[in-house]
Amino acid sequence: MLRVVRLLVVLLVALLGGTWAYAWVTRTPGETLGEAFAGRLALLFGGGQQAVPAAGGVQLPQGMVLGGPFSLVDQTGRAVTERDFSGKWLLLYFGYTYCPDVCPTELGTIAAAVDALGPLGEKVVPVMVTIDPQRDTPAQLADYVSRFHPRMLGLTGTPEQVAEAARRYRVYYAKVNRPDAGAYLMDHSSFVYLVGPDGRVRSLFRPEAGPDDMAAAVRAQLTRAAAAAS
Ligand code: NI
Repeated sequence: MLRVVRLLVVLLVALLGGTWAYAWVTRTPGETLGEAFAGRLALLFGGGQQAVPAAGGVQLPQGMVLGGPFSLVDQTGRAVTERDFSGKWLLLYFGYTYCPDVCPTELGTIAAAVDALGPLGEKVVPVMVTIDPQRDTPAQLADYVSRFHPRMLGLTGTPEQVAEAARRYRVYYAKVNRPDAGAYLMDHSSFVYLVGPDGRVRSLFRPEAGPDDMAAAVRAQLTRAAAAAS
């Protein structure tokens, strides 16, 4: 009997710990960790709002807001804000041009997904925002993004502008100095964001998402939005 109680306690602690971690990751700006924990706990025990049904990708928890205003510079040197993309869908990725592996793979996936969408893909703008503004100048980005897709945009800015944009999307990044080499690497989170016409993230894709899954999820979101508008 004691063993059963002990097991139950262990399970409960694991459940609460997991919920706490989940709350930490998904809490919205302005929401305290305690509030987020209470909210996720309510969801867990069915007392909260129903989660939005998934349309592919990772669905954001109800109430979680990602995206919003930013002020950056595009690959032609032109200043851009979120208002320049108003009414458009974006497949957005934060990375850097010196990335040895993950970024090229993800940008290739985005490009393939846009092409797989056919005519619908023309409604979607593929965008890379650099998290390495020190090296990723507009000219450097222009050369890089054109290798992936003819319509892909590259955005950079001052370190402060990039940090602010990354904060809106909860992107983690940090410089990793290598004593053996002159160059440095960037450690960074690697999600692809589907951003709606209002500048808010609709779904996000884990690094292992393939182009077909991504295209299917984008198609579902665009179809749903078109149905809601008519
Ligand atoms: Ni990378």
